[in-house]
Amino acid sequence: MTVVLLPGDGVGPEVVAEARRCLEATGLGLTFATAPIGGAALDAGLPALPPATRELCLQGDAVLLGAVGGPRWTPGVPEAGLLELRQALGVYANLRPITTDTVDLLIVRELTGGLYFGQPRWRTADEAVDTLRYSRREIERLVHVGFAAARGRRRLVTSVDKANVLETSRLWRATANAVAEQYPDVRCEHALVDSFAMALMQRPERYDVVVTENMFGDILSDEAAVLAGSIGLLPSASLGAGPGLFEPVHGSAPDIAGQGVANPYGAILSAAMLLRHGLHEERAAAAVESAVAEALAAGVHTRDLGTPAASTQEAGQEVARRIMDRAGSSRTVTS
Ligand code: IPM
Ligand code: MN
Repeated sequence: MTVVLLPGDGVGPEVVAEARRCLEATGLGLTFATAPIGGAALDAGLPALPPATRELCLQGDAVLLGAVGGPRWTPGVPEAGLLELRQALGVYANLRPITTDTVDLLIVRELTGGLYFGQPRWRTADEAVDTLRYSRREIERLVHVGFAAARGRRRLVTSVDKANVLETSRLWRATANAVAEQYPDVRCEHALVDSFAMALMQRPERYDVVVTENMFGDILSDEAAVLAGSIGLLPSASLGAGPGLFEPVHGSAPDIAGQGVANPYGAILSAAMLLRHGLHEERAAAAVESAVAEALAAGVHTRDLGTPAASTQEAGQEVARRIMDRAGSSRTVTS
């Protein structure tokens, strides 16, 4: 099984190196291929998504990405490489779980439509246009992912929209209701994005699965990161028909890049999601997640979580050691 690594920019390479260390520690014997994307590709005189990177991703079994973007490049140009990759892979469902002692939330964000991709799209000196467009089919397939996930959880889906203003949201709500009929065992409710943003902070523990369009999901998932204590802890999985794309929710954090202080847990937990959703290696995925939980409980915290602080490498090594311990003990049991 081949995992394509796209370290990208800023802290991306540092956290992807630790995620790789943890994937290697599972003992699955994965093959790795590394390719440039974003600013790193631009610096090499290539487009933000080089054709060779795109092909490698399409042929791999799963893709692990660090982060793209930073102040050194024209705003939006490195990011366009990531958006192009999401579209090339057709990864329309972006799963962003947020778990704490009291909160167990799964944001299911639509990833290949809406304002990010709608046409027409243009800008002159005096005027600019972005288009928010959704088809029923695009909404349906995303909402199905949310309901299916809710079946394995607390069976509540909150569909977030702006149906009091937007036509796309009215279509979203009607479509969500139609899909909900196919899941009579799952409760479906609707919320308006503005009041939901408030309710999420007031009573985060009441929510289970949230389904929402691309831009709302982008904003709400950063807001929800506050619940976890650090955005550096949050993983994501982007799924479609082909290889999945797995990336920490945090960005390239250029202000702390290269210092060895970035939190690698979000990237490592993204690697766990890669094992689960991308390679169907549930046992290895659970081992990685348990190892991260143990390292956190043992106080192995990077600077964003408080002092005394472990380095990016120390945190990654700690998790990898715990994964190998587990693999070793399960081998003893089964042999
Ligand atoms: C994210 C990021 C991206 C997005 C950017 C880097 C294009 O913010 O993954 O949430 O807006 O989707
Ligand atoms: Mn974002």
